[in-house]
Amino acid sequence: MSKPTLLYFSEEANQAIALATLCNASAQLIERHVFPDGELKLRLPSQLPERVAIFHSLDHPNQKLIELLLAAPTAKTIGARHLTLIAPYLAYMRQDMAFLPGEAVSQRIIGKLLATLFDVLITVDPHLHRVSSLSQAVPVKNVLVLSAAPLMGEFAAQQHANPILMGPDEESLQWVAQAAAQHHLDYAVAKKVRMGDRDVEVTLPSISVYGRPVILLDDIASSGHTLARTTELLLQAGAQSVDVMVTHALFMGSALEMVKRAGVSEVWSTDCIDHPSNAISMLPAIAQAWNSLAELS
Ligand code: R5P
Repeated sequence: MSKPTLLYFSEEANQAIALATLCNASAQLIERHVFPDGELKLRLPSQLPERVAIFHSLDHPNQKLIELLLAAPTAKTIGARHLTLIAPYLAYMRQDMAFLPGEAVSQRIIGKLLATLFDVLITVDPHLHRVSSLSQAVPVKNVLVLSAAPLMGEFAAQQHANPILMGPDEESLQWVAQAAAQHHLDYAVAKKVRMGDRDVEVTLPSISVYGRPVILLDDIASSGHTLARTTELLLQAGAQSVDVMVTHALFMGSALEMVKRAGVSEVWSTDCIDHPSNAISMLPAIAQAWNSLAELS
């Protein structure tokens, strides 16, 4: 049986090549040409084996989704029989209902689209709030959801003696509680009300942070306002230090600088999105997940 192929785009070469090595797969580049009007032309290898995965973490989601729309059917026409999407960050999961009449429920629409393109989805800590399982949102044949929380808990315990893990909102409880479990770390979550893209109101929980190192843990850092506002409040409440740990380091524009200005000491992230703050690798877990599918087929 020929080696499986992991297809990747140039900006994700480092992660994809490292992942392919862990999976004993052959890593092959998808060439991309952007025409002057913004249209895309992709070129895949001329032939593919039966087992193929496309590695594309869905930060910058709009272009990347079009790329998947072009690449997945092409892969199937040149030999792929079993096609997996490895998207460590899965975009469009936050809009899971129509908050106002007429709003598109992006999670359901994008989920269905991905399910028409791929047989399997492997992802890490998708932002699920009002739906209980990812297969409800992305109805592919097989969905493998990994969590960075245990590794984050392990990492946190190595950074400080007796830190408090803090989530900035109620949705983060799922990850914070899991991260705190193994080392029995203290944890709590704040309450957040979002007024706009860059406008959040945060209320801290009743746990005392006075004189304690706090590690703020969240799934996504985008504009950075959630982390910055929570950090300011924690420092005002007497926290000894505030560090930040996120699964998906989007950090758009000057978000990282703003978070640092708010008083954050260290920023750590997983490599679900390639970013200078990457400190925890999810690649071994992703490799294991993809390999486990080979054993099933
Ligand atoms: C949403 O609830 C997520 O868990 C994050 O808290 C949110 O996406 C962070 O966004 P921002 O960095 O723009 O405040």
